[in-house]
Amino acid sequence: MSTPTIPKNRLRSLDWFANPDHIDMTALYLERFMNYGITPEELRSGKPIIGIAQSGSDLTPCNRIHVELVKRVRDGIRDAGGIPIEFPTHPIFENCKRPTAALDRNLAYLGLVEILYGYPLDGVVLTTGCDKTTPSALMAASTVNIPAIVLSGGPMLDGWHEGDLVGSGTVIWRSRRKLAAGAITEEEFLQTALDSAPSAGHCNTMGTASTMNAMAEALGMSLTGCAAIPAPYRERGQMAYRTGRRAVELVLEDIKPSDILTRAAFLNAIRVNTAIGGSTNAQPHLAAMARHAGVTLEPEDWQTYGYDLPLLANVQPAGKWLGERFHRAGGVPAVMWELLQAGVLDGSCPTVTGKTIAENLVGEESDDREVIKPFAEPLKETAGFLVLRGNLFDFAIMKTSVISPGFRERYLCVPGHEGVFTGKAVVFDGSEDYHKRINDPALDIDEETILVIRGAGPIGWPGSAEVVNMQPPDHLLKRGIMSLPTIGDGRQSGTADSPSILNASPESAAGGGLSWLRTGDKIRIDFNHGHCNALVSDEEIARRKQDGIPAVPPDATPWQQIYRRTVTQLVDGAVIEDAVAFRGLAQKGHPR
Ligand code: FES
Ligand code: MG
Repeated sequence: MSTPTIPKNRLRSLDWFANPDHIDMTALYLERFMNYGITPEELRSGKPIIGIAQSGSDLTPCNRIHVELVKRVRDGIRDAGGIPIEFPTHPIFENCKRPTAALDRNLAYLGLVEILYGYPLDGVVLTTGCDKTTPSALMAASTVNIPAIVLSGGPMLDGWHEGDLVGSGTVIWRSRRKLAAGAITEEEFLQTALDSAPSAGHCNTMGTASTMNAMAEALGMSLTGCAAIPAPYRERGQMAYRTGRRAVELVLEDIKPSDILTRAAFLNAIRVNTAIGGSTNAQPHLAAMARHAGVTLEPEDWQTYGYDLPLLANVQPAGKWLGERFHRAGGVPAVMWELLQAGVLDGSCPTVTGKTIAENLVGEESDDREVIKPFAEPLKETAGFLVLRGNLFDFAIMKTSVISPGFRERYLCVPGHEGVFTGKAVVFDGSEDYHKRINDPALDIDEETILVIRGAGPIGWPGSAEVVNMQPPDHLLKRGIMSLPTIGDGRQSGTADSPSILNASPESAAGGGLSWLRTGDKIRIDFNHGHCNALVSDEEIARRKQDGIPAVPPDATPWQQIYRRTVTQLVDGAVIEDAVAFRGLAQKGHPR
């Protein structure tokens, strides 16, 4: 592509560094950048100043590769005629942040908006990796709407333990069940987990991190093939260089997030999510990104556009392989190529490459059919998210690609199947209550039980906890029953393989239906019609509601309080409602 050397618009950075009306302010703006060796000539040259939003640090080990990669990003920016300026973003480490990393997504978003808006940046490279680092960055990019491009950090190398592939997260959920059934020792449990994380990078399964980086690519916000390259591979450094170069060109060509993040792009992302067996966390994160992009994404879109599509990527937790093999098989572009050929992807969507999706995908067919299946011979048919509603919630989703074959055939996918599951609810108030009582014989949990957890939504457990993938009590695990249906107003880890109904909105703490549910109530789930109801009379529900909403823990930090007061429900992306109205800030004039 030819690169224009004259920007289409006057660079916004010149308003800081070359404003003839405010030489006093210009002097102030310029002088402190000098103290690490940058020159006034550079900053006043009219070259695009490209921010590099550095998400890697010792506290975000999943993204720490970016501390190295940024050198190649800088090279790319310089070679394309730009000036790099790196700055840190608020750290978000999924596995470690208490009470939840999800609490920090909106905080990182707010911080990045202030930086992108209030500093002299013409464009930005968004470095991403661990789960929430991708949506927080793209949410901010939409709010400010300066040219932006995603650079994924890439997954870790594949994990191996005693000759078996072990994937991050997934191995924890599977080993936990083995430990409870007495099949492995605690020492083996720990060693298997450590073996699943053999290098720099984010989770090597198709968990939320790999999913959200794939979503960024499917949306058109990263270069083709960016999402899946493992962090330590040489191609990752090459991708960093090309991304830096392209960031400068985006400024010169004046291509902004609002040009790319359309409804058609989000529907493509939903389709790709099904085909890769992506995380259920994609639902709130895509909803949040869409809201900040000003795109209407209906909750039903997940079922309308995603449910009927097949699973193509044979990657854990829905499949067998891990990130390295997925990348070598062609990664996200090869999956998108299948969808495009099948006529179910909108190839006309523009992307940060300056070309359309269809143009980007030329020649991307996979040559490893063990890992990326042809559309006509998928790993599983009808593998998207089911959308459910009823008197317990207005919205919840179920990821069907990880449901056991027995359950799928009985309830979901075979013509003439029953489609209705009725079970007895056992209700837990948060995960501490679950852990304390799950093995209590008085609960009388059997194969016909539905485990329910509440107090786990954005308000209840601030951020919303990944706890809905509750494992059955030990006595069932020892009999080989590895999962029970579960329902919750929290989320579940993208690496989990449980048949869960999750992200229930509104949550119990907001007065949703789970707040009045009691242990012993019967729940009827009609998969054919997307209904999930407790068989409790309206009079009884009204009576129970007078007892109030189950208590949730108090705010422990200032941000928890602010978050709880401002957050919307998971169906709506758990965004800060008041922030949504702020969009396209860079087009509304320069900051005062
Ligand atoms: Fe950070 Fe999985 S814990 S990517
Ligand atoms: Mg997680």
